[in-house]
Formats: sequence, C-alpha cells, structure tokens
Amino acid sequence: MNHIKHVAIIMDGNGRWGIKHKKSRNSGHKEGLKTVEKIIKVSIQNKIKYLSLYAFSTENWKRPKKEINFLFNLLENFLLNKISEFNKKNIKLKIIGKKRFSNKINTLLNNSEKKTFKNKRLQINLALNYGSKSELIHSFNKINRNKQKINEKNISKYLFTQNIPDPDLLIRTGNTHRLSNFLLWQLAYSEIFFEKKLWPDFNENDYNKILKKFKKIKRNYGNI
Ligand code: IPE
Ligand code: IPE
Ligand code: MG
Repeated sequence: MNHIKHVAIIMDGNGRWGIKHKKSRNSGHKEGLKTVEKIIKVSIQNKIKYLSLYAFSTENWKRPKKEINFLFNLLENFLLNKISEFNKKNIKLKIIGKKRFSNKINTLLNNSEKKTFKNKRLQINLALNYGSKSELIHSFNKINRNKQKINEKNISKYLFTQNIPDPDLLIRTGNTHRLSNFLLWQLAYSEIFFEKKLWPDFNENDYNKILKKFKKIKRNYGNI
C-alpha cells in the first residue's frame, strides 16, 4: 500500500459550474470554496501532510478584471475567516508563487503564513500567481548567481516547494487533461488523476475514491 504524504490539486471547472447553475462564472468560484473545505477535512482524516492547491496561475491575469477582483476578494474573506480555524486545527498555510498583489493582499498573506507557521498537522501550499516555468527560471538564476552546480538537489532547493516532498498524486477536476504550468518539475513521478466533475461538484467521496485507488498503484520509478 502506498503511503500518501502530498496531494496536489488543480481545482478547475468553477466558471463552467457557475454558468451552468447560476449564470455567472463568479458564483462558481464562490461554490468552489465549499469543496476546498471538504478536501481539507478529508486530507486531515487521511493523515496527509501536504496539500497543494492551484488557486491562481501566472496566466490567469489574462482574465477580465472583474473576475480577478472577485477571486481576490473571495481569497481575502476566506483567509480572514479561516485563519483562526486553521490554527485550531493545527494547519499551516504556505503561499507558493510570487506575492505581487496589492499591499493589502500581500500583508494578509504574510500575516496568515506567520500566524500558522508553527502548525504541524497539515501544510496547505496555496498556489497564487504561480507558474512552474517562472519558478524554474528563478531557481536556475539563483544557482547561477551563487556559482553552484546545476543538479537535482540544487534546482529543488530554490523552488517554492523547497523541503516539501514531491506530490504523490495530482488531481485535476473539470474534465481537462493538461497541467497548465503547475509543478512541472515536482510532478515528474506523481500519479495523475483526471476527474470529469467540475470542482464545485467534487466531493469527499470522489476524493476518498481517488486516494484509495492511489494506494494500490505499483510505482516503478523506472524499475520493474
Ligand atoms: C478554476 O476554475 C479556478 C481558477 C482558475 C481561478 P476556472 O475558473 O478555470 O473554471 P472553468 O475552467 O472556466 O470552468
Ligand atoms: C488552471 O486552470 C489554474 C487553476 C486552477 C488555478 P485554468 O482554467 O486557468 O487552466 P487553462 O487555462 O484551462 O489551461
Ligand atoms: Mg479552467
């Protein structure tokens, strides 16, 4: 049976859910937060140590301003409401991605990380303004500036995910089969699960089923 330390999730399909049910993409983003809470709960039940959630990519800035503003307002309210609960539940929050937001959001993110820094039960890596290619370039530049060797250890050392084991599995909801610039280096040997359901429809049962399936997979890492 495979042990699960780290689950990464591309939470896709909010916009389509919103259009289908309430006629606005943003209503889907709001609904998607309920799934986030369910997935955190199940991750804790399964003793998972790291949960990486793709919330906003470096490419998502191409979206209409109104949608971007809505997403960041949602994030702001979520963090303001949840940080004390995270502390109660011993959850640590880490942002992966470049913190280039408004002062207000940057401060909130830094404070949220600081307040939960010592927590140990589950670490949530929230990917915000995250792009794997720019993360890798950043790492190569760091290695270059420090006149170090380009090797796996050094490349990993300068990624946002330094000291975090690579994801055991990646889940992408929303019936789309691509990585969209998420953790390209870290996912080299992860098991990938593409899920038809849109993110707001994804539930505890769906998640548990994937975890169960994962546990039975034979992982070869090139061996036989
Ligand atoms: C994912 O859902 C959430 C974000 C990218 C913020 P989408 O907003 O991409 O939803 P679809 O794929 O358009 O349905
Ligand atoms: C990936 O979803 C990013 C997040 C879930 C945050 P997108 O909906 O942005 O991906 P593409 O554009 O369809 O590849
Ligand atoms: Mg999408």
